[in-house]
Amino acid sequence: MSHFSTFACHASTGGNSPKGSTAMGQPVLVTGGTGTLGRQVVARLREAGQSVRVLTRRAPASDDGDTYVSGDLTTGAGIEAAVDGVRTVVHCAGTQKGDGEKARLLVRAASAAGVTHLVFISVVGADAIPVASAVDRAAFAYFASQRDAERVVEASGIPWTTLRATQFYDLTLLTVRAMAKLPVIPVPRGFRFQPVDSGEVADRLVELALGSPAGLVLDLAGPTVYPMQSLIRSYLEATRQRRVLLPIPVPGRAARAIRAGANLAPNRAVGHRTWEDFLASTVGGTTYSGSHGPNGSRGGRS
Ligand SMILES: NC(=O)c1ccc[n+]([C@@H]2O[C@H](COP(=O)([O-])OP(=O)(O)OC[C@H]3O[C@@H](n4cnc5c(N)ncnc54)[C@H](OP(=O)(O)O)[C@@H]3O)[C@@H](O)[C@H]2O)c1
Repeated sequence: MSHFSTFACHASTGGNSPKGSTAMGQPVLVTGGTGTLGRQVVARLREAGQSVRVLTRRAPASDDGDTYVSGDLTTGAGIEAAVDGVRTVVHCAGTQKGDGEKARLLVRAASAAGVTHLVFISVVGADAIPVASAVDRAAFAYFASQRDAERVVEASGIPWTTLRATQFYDLTLLTVRAMAKLPVIPVPRGFRFQPVDSGEVADRLVELALGSPAGLVLDLAGPTVYPMQSLIRSYLEATRQRRVLLPIPVPGRAARAIRAGANLAPNRAVGHRTWEDFLASTVGGTTYSGSHGPNGSRGGRS
């Protein structure tokens, strides 16, 4: 259960500030700026000429042009200092659970500091995957946690923008790689995913951060919907491994919602980079032949 739960994890208006609300000279705070997505957001903000401050629980890294601030959104330590003098916060810090609490601590400090734009990255399905029972919580608490954080952002009183994205290719790879360590891989029956390139998510987040608060914006999803077994098989093929895949039923309402596609956004298949391209450039070697390719829908671009 743990591998695919890791994989599963991870309209209103936000206000009307003028475009370009990140004043030059005032740093943009990126929480999670050391993470997979956040690192790319930081790089793009810098390319756009913004001064960037990165919140991290680790000791500040050596100076590479950004300012690193030590802080912890679980305890609140260091958060007031992190938001001091900041107008825009891009909130990319997240874990498997407790993200509502993290958002609460961030919002409290940001509000007091006069932040005028709070940009949040959430997940497709946050509002559509019910996490009601212990069975649901065991594997899908992440979606409820993200929805909790969304609500905190919405109610913050700070003009906000929230983008929901599907699972990143990086996480997809991490998951299938871990699953491939098993001689027999249990695969939840009927689960599909529509992963997306985290660089494209970073592009969009930066565009949103540099624009006006926009509330809940349109979802961002990858170009193709895949049955879970196709993602695993493509990885196995690219790494020249053979495994037995064992379909397993997953009980609960959350799993039912996923089987119904609540974690997908086929009408928002706007990502361009393909999983096959990502695989070829990360695990290298063989080029994926597509023989285990998607039989899910290929949504239109917009
Ligand atoms: N991965 C996906 O497929 C996916 C899909 C949709 C949405 N999202 C959302 O996008 C966000 C980023 O995901 P990611 O995959 O880039 O995450 P990641 O690589 O796991 O990075 C997580 C980041 O959160 C920071 N963090 C964690 N706990 C913290 C705390 N208590 N206080 C301060 N910072 C903390 C970490 O910073 P330090 O370790 O430096 O402290 C790290 O930079 C998450 O909120 C996630 O829910 C992810």
